[in-house]
Amino acid sequence: MASNGVAAAAAAGAAAPLFQPYRLPSGKELAHRIVYAPLTRCRALNTIPQPNAAVYYAQRATQGGLMISEGTVISDDGHGYPCTPGIYSNEHVAAWRPIVQAVHDKGAVFYCQIWHVGRASHPHYMPDESLPVSSTTKAVKGQCFSLKTMQMEDHTEARALSAEEIPAYVDKYRQAARNAVDAGFDGVEIHGANGYLIDQFLKDGINDRTDQYGGSIENRCRFALEVVKAVADEIGAEKVGLRLSPFGGFLDAHDSHPYSSVVFLLEELNKHNLAYVHIVEPRVAGNDDLAFTPDSIQPFRQVYKGTLIAAGGYNAANGGDAVRSGHCDLVCYGRHYIANPDLPRRFQLGAPLNKYDRATFYTQGEEGYTDYPFLEETEEGKAFLAAQAAN
Ligand SMILES: Cc1cc2nc3c(=O)[nH]c(=O)nc-3n(C[C@H](O)[C@H](O)[C@H](O)COP(=O)(O)O)c2cc1C
Repeated sequence: MASNGVAAAAAAGAAAPLFQPYRLPSGKELAHRIVYAPLTRCRALNTIPQPNAAVYYAQRATQGGLMISEGTVISDDGHGYPCTPGIYSNEHVAAWRPIVQAVHDKGAVFYCQIWHVGRASHPHYMPDESLPVSSTTKAVKGQCFSLKTMQMEDHTEARALSAEEIPAYVDKYRQAARNAVDAGFDGVEIHGANGYLIDQFLKDGINDRTDQYGGSIENRCRFALEVVKAVADEIGAEKVGLRLSPFGGFLDAHDSHPYSSVVFLLEELNKHNLAYVHIVEPRVAGNDDLAFTPDSIQPFRQVYKGTLIAAGGYNAANGGDAVRSGHCDLVCYGRHYIANPDLPRRFQLGAPLNKYDRATFYTQGEEGYTDYPFLEETEEGKAFLAAQAAN
């Protein structure tokens, strides 16, 4: 066997645990452990996902693979980025339907990530130019892109939701989940990570409330748990996932005790038979990868009885290790999956990867979206496949 054949075989061997099948609590049988990450790509038009999204997602869909949609906004006051899709109107449901169908036609399982950005927005995104809502009035430090001025603007202060208003926001998540299922999605992932609305309640670095939604861990988890219960009651707990980022400081979402907060939450979540809990590990800070710390979610693994997805800085080898060692059940891939529509196949073969282009993550059109080549479409890939055939 030529030396590149040896290297490919070793790489494929390291990734092999990723190709063990897995059964979700809903009974859905996954053919492998590789999950397509929720990835905002800013290609919607006036909040409506476009037909090119069907091409994009179908390119990345595999028989028996789990995919999670880009963050999909639950109400007209929940946007904070340009060209992000919604799931709060009949038009959204109708636009998502063929996209979901295209993914199902390839045999994949598709969850919709339901999202409200809370204070990570600007009055320019609000229907009536009002302040964005949050757990707090404090502004996010830094700036966001304004669709109105087409430039970066400082975040404004937020409007803290009153306790009386919160049930209406819980209900927006419930209705969005119903809409997602009506559009054909197999379930929803509640976005409780990365400093957005739910995380703005969870983290004591943001939540400064003194009512039943602030202060103690139990109080800060109340909104998240109410959303989980409402969504689970609406569509069935086994169709509901929750994404958390205990350690992330994105959008100032720091917590002084990330372990105890999340352990409390997971103990409560054990009372539901959820599809999964999805934890973003502290491996990515802005554009930089941090050192791989394989024990970062072990305390959560010990507490949470259900399916655990881990995300953040994974490649084929450490993803394979994560499954082999029981660190998590499923491994989520973001940036590599953007650049490699056939990522699972490449991992299985030990094949080289296309490099992602950060400059086109959030731009318009096909470039950096649907034009990343499959393995056999590059010279490097052709040479790899020829060498494999010769071995
Ligand atoms: C372009 C881009 C868009 C993202 N959009 C979302 C999103 O909509 N929802 C979310 O929960 N995380 C989002 N993330 C975070 C990813 O899901 C993932 O956690 C992160 O990229 C780390 O995984 P990776 O190292 O495999 O890329 C995004 C990341 C990138 C690079």
